[in-house]
Amino acid sequence: MSIELVNQVTSGMRPYPMEELGRIKNKLIKEGRPVYDFGTGDPLIPTWAPIREAILSAVPVISQYPSVKGVESLRDAQWKYLGNRFNLQKNESISLIPAQGTKEAIFNIGLCLVGRGGKKHLVYPDPGYPVYRASALYSGGIPYPVRLTPENNMRIEPWKLPIEIQQSTAAIWINHPHNPTGATVTYQYWKELIEWCHKTDTILLSDDCYSDIYDAAFDLSPTSDLAKDKRPLTPLQISSDRVLAFMSLSKRSGMTGYRSGMIAGDTRIINSIVQARANFGVGSPNFIQAGSAVAWADETHVAERRKVFTHRLKLAFPYLQKLGLIDQIPEAAFYFWCRIPSSFKGDDVKFILALADEGIITSPSSWLSEGMSGYFRLAMVPDDEATTIAMEKLTHFVRKNS
Ligand SMILES: Cc1ncc(COP(=O)(O)O)c(C=O)c1O
Repeated sequence: MSIELVNQVTSGMRPYPMEELGRIKNKLIKEGRPVYDFGTGDPLIPTWAPIREAILSAVPVISQYPSVKGVESLRDAQWKYLGNRFNLQKNESISLIPAQGTKEAIFNIGLCLVGRGGKKHLVYPDPGYPVYRASALYSGGIPYPVRLTPENNMRIEPWKLPIEIQQSTAAIWINHPHNPTGATVTYQYWKELIEWCHKTDTILLSDDCYSDIYDAAFDLSPTSDLAKDKRPLTPLQISSDRVLAFMSLSKRSGMTGYRSGMIAGDTRIINSIVQARANFGVGSPNFIQAGSAVAWADETHVAERRKVFTHRLKLAFPYLQKLGLIDQIPEAAFYFWCRIPSSFKGDDVKFILALADEGIITSPSSWLSEGMSGYFRLAMVPDDEATTIAMEKLTHFVRKNS
């Protein structure tokens, strides 16, 4: 009789894509080869100095446990952000709670929602962030990936799902701007989606990780008319009823390593999950909260970061377009989602491994999806100089192999 030391969800977990990429990168570094790392979405831009200074000066002499609700100055700064960025004012129907980065919050919310009203499906975009699936599995739920394609405009249309799935969906993950494709959606889409959620009693989970990373030109014409605003919206601007938004400081403020974000939305749900999260061990250290408060309250450093990403996308796009790998520059996030060259006959893993041999690290669609081949993702993390060298090398590689 074989003994199961861990459960089947754990033994069946696929390698996390970024861990795989790390192994490839380390091998190149060991061999002393130059590396151009477009693999993980972890930009190499210094964190704004006032954020770092606030953290350093808040490190206490005596260490004490943080509370799961967060300190008041952080919560005030988060409200300020919701007001500045989305025109959301403090009111009884919306509440917020800090998170130790949104990854844990995305994972843990499954534990609170799967099984509500007897519903066990978690619907999510494919390709997409792998934690939606892991959360469904570990929560005892049923993952329901929905393939994003040009035919559905790279967005989930839940009203087209089989009726029994619509009825048994506890919650639906939506992620726009979308990782990995950069796809964005309109005000009209959010409205239809929220109507569907209300009709079917489904919780809308909006992963807003990239909502502050958009074309810097959009900052020039902000408008209160939601249908005309080119900046990404959060569904909370339309309704908070059965809506939770997951907002992160990682991309907006370059704080990936500090682990800081928040969940904002329906007060009834937040009140319940505050209780649950007190058990999860996810209180953020108070000194990190001090830096996070500075980050949420300021928009100037975020505008500067947007300029950097917009410039990088514009720098690399002509190379990729000329090679026939992509047709349009994304309006948001900092990724390119490219077709692999036809000479690789749809084998994206073979393609990225061959490209890695040239020192250029990228992610294959097979690792960012549930069986989607033929694409690869470039995270625009390297600086301008490295980007230019890598694009020249990529051009040479694709031409040599076509
Ligand atoms: C789509 C998406 N959601 C959530 C996250 C998690 O972000 P964090 O935990 O750093 O807030 C990421 C990180 O890359 C992401 O790409």
